[in-house]
Amino acid sequence: MKNSLYFNIKVEEGIFDKIVAEQKSIGYYALPEQDISYLLNYLEEFKSKNDYDAIKDIAIIGIGGSSLGPKAIFRALQGIRDFDKRLHLFESTDPASIRSTLNKLDIKNTHFFVISKSGTTIETISVYKYILSLLKAKDISLDYRFTFVTDDGSKLEAHAKTFNSFVLHIPVNVGGRFSVLSAAGLAPLFLAGVDIQRLLDGAKAIKQSFFEDGYIKETLLKKATYYAKNSMNYNINTLFAYSESLDSFTDWYVQLWGESLGKKQRHSSFNVGLTPVGLIGPKDQHSFLQLIVEGLRDKSVTVLKIENFDDKIKIPAITLKELEGLDLMNGIAFCDLINMQADSTIEALLDKKDIPVDTITLQHIDEENIGKLIFYYELLTSLVGQMMNVNTYDQPGVESGKKILEGKLIEEKRKSVKKSK
Ligand code: PA5
Repeated sequence: MKNSLYFNIKVEEGIFDKIVAEQKSIGYYALPEQDISYLLNYLEEFKSKNDYDAIKDIAIIGIGGSSLGPKAIFRALQGIRDFDKRLHLFESTDPASIRSTLNKLDIKNTHFFVISKSGTTIETISVYKYILSLLKAKDISLDYRFTFVTDDGSKLEAHAKTFNSFVLHIPVNVGGRFSVLSAAGLAPLFLAGVDIQRLLDGAKAIKQSFFEDGYIKETLLKKATYYAKNSMNYNINTLFAYSESLDSFTDWYVQLWGESLGKKQRHSSFNVGLTPVGLIGPKDQHSFLQLIVEGLRDKSVTVLKIENFDDKIKIPAITLKELEGLDLMNGIAFCDLINMQADSTIEALLDKKDIPVDTITLQHIDEENIGKLIFYYELLTSLVGQMMNVNTYDQPGVESGKKILEGKLIEEKRKSVKKSK
């Protein structure tokens, strides 16, 4: 992974030490070095209770930090490998989406993950209830049909223990959106056939490079300083990924950045934040790029490129009548074309001289590089959060919405009880 910054700034002093200190209380920093034997044991037990080969569908019921991470990783790897299991996501209460996801899977041969750190998220539990009833209605055995991933001692864990199911824990000091490299992300990915050790190795390489004075330390510190210092003028950070397979990765980035950095500052009443935008090239070159190049100077751009797509399909060398002028594309591999497009975007942006640009280049899409990218973005978020003086790891804004919904449900229940009397 290479990261080139096309802007310069003096790194804010003291910030590295704050991140070093944060490792004592914030759990995600330790995840790259975790011992995965608990997952090896889980898989072994899983195979002893289920016909592993017969299970073709794995479905996650979860939302936010409990679904976006594994979705991002699986979606990226699906572009380069054929998995013999499919991963589905129930991450919405939209009835059409519940129905269409159900239509895509063979429910008898599906293993379900219910992932919720708190164990009480209404979206997740409501969909779980629906699927549970469906299984019961179809007389499908519930025995070891579910894996619950939640906080140790949560009510969801207590529920899981009322029947035969698997339970895995999210470490208490690992927050939802930082939990992709915990059991919340690793367990479903492992079951689906992802090499989770290589994911962790990639994350470990970035962690070591950052904490042990490697190449990524200076770059990350500079980039974070730039974003924090310019948060009032360049307050929109676009991640422009040149691969469709990274579209869910940009969703994960949007959640991580938005939910971590949009806050009231510590010890002040100022509301601050940086707005994340996920873009996909070349599609958004014909859309959002206009706004970046000629619109308000309030956006930074990170162009994410894949050096080697490991795919050589080419534009055929044929001439189309009346379109002879376009023969100049003949024989060019699509992987080269998409990278030329990314380079053209970078040049167009740099030409303007007043748009902060940096580029991240992954050699390939594989577990190791995706692990690197994840840990890179987690570290960047922590650094910017420290510099903007916010609590990166809480989400009071989201919690307030959850409370209001609970109130509405109580009111609804009260009305229906009254009606039935
Ligand atoms: O990052 C977060 O903490 C949130 O996005 C949560 O992941 C999300 O609200 C789901 O919460 P839970 O995992 O408790 O169901």
